Amino acid sequence: MTVEAFAPAKVNLTLHVTGQRADGYHLLDSLVVFADAGDHLALTPADEMSIMVTGSFAKGVPADRRNLVWQAAELAGWTGHIALEKNIPHGAGLGGGSADAAAVLRALGVTENAGLLGADVPVCLGATAQRMQGIGGDLTVLPDLPPLAAVLVNPGVHVPTPSVFGGLTQKNNPAMPAEIPAFKSGRELLSWLADMRNDLEPPAIAQQPVIAEVLRALSVQNALLVRMSGSGSTCFALYDDPGIAEVMARDLAQRHPEWWVRDCRLS
Ligand code: C5P
Repeated sequence: MTVEAFAPAKVNLTLHVTGQRADGYHLLDSLVVFADAGDHLALTPADEMSIMVTGSFAKGVPADRRNLVWQAAELAGWTGHIALEKNIPHGAGLGGGSADAAAVLRALGVTENAGLLGADVPVCLGATAQRMQGIGGDLTVLPDLPPLAAVLVNPGVHVPTPSVFGGLTQKNNPAMPAEIPAFKSGRELLSWLADMRNDLEPPAIAQQPVIAEVLRALSVQNALLVRMSGSGSTCFALYDDPGIAEVMARDLAQRHPEWWVRDCRLS
């Protein structure tokens, strides 16, 4: 009766802010991929809704209706017990509650109205490489994007998404090229990514300067590309060799035991 679900961490390889709508939401152009690391869920039907939160990032996660997984279950018309193992920093640019809510919808076979739960929920529902446009709901699947090796680093600070968007000095920035090329290798993808941006990096760094320190620490580690994900504070370094990512993650974790460091594959 119990259904298990995996909520992979979401990583924005690029995040271009191209405008703002009259209702305040921002227009985005983002290349989104997913990690082989994430939160785990188990859904067991019952007469009443309940949530139990465990895992290294359980602290501060509500076990009631405020939790997006509860709202996702309601949206799906499902009632029961949700066991939620939080392995990934939340409120951290990696999908967090949106990824968990999407995993619930996926497990229950519901794909409609996911955007009602949050702008990031539709892309997390796909859980595969996508170009995300509009305010988050215009999605194009990129089936041939080469997988990459990455090191994810979170310094343990929280930057509220609305205030990062609010700190943008320029909201009308160039989009990504209209056509995303067909990359023949991870290296080719990495060199193309180098010309792209995360426009939320400067306002996030202005609020939490440690993000710049994380980017610097990752840059000295032979990374082919270093960038922030989403509205932060998680940053990533990209490699074309998982073995190197693993060694770099171990080294960085030793030098910064106060940071969350994790090597993974992105696809
Ligand atoms: O939709 P969600 O609740 O995940 O978004 C969190 C906040 O991020 C929104 O309230 C809004 O301030 C900001 N946001 C935005 N434009 C987007 C997505 C999110 O301004 N496209």
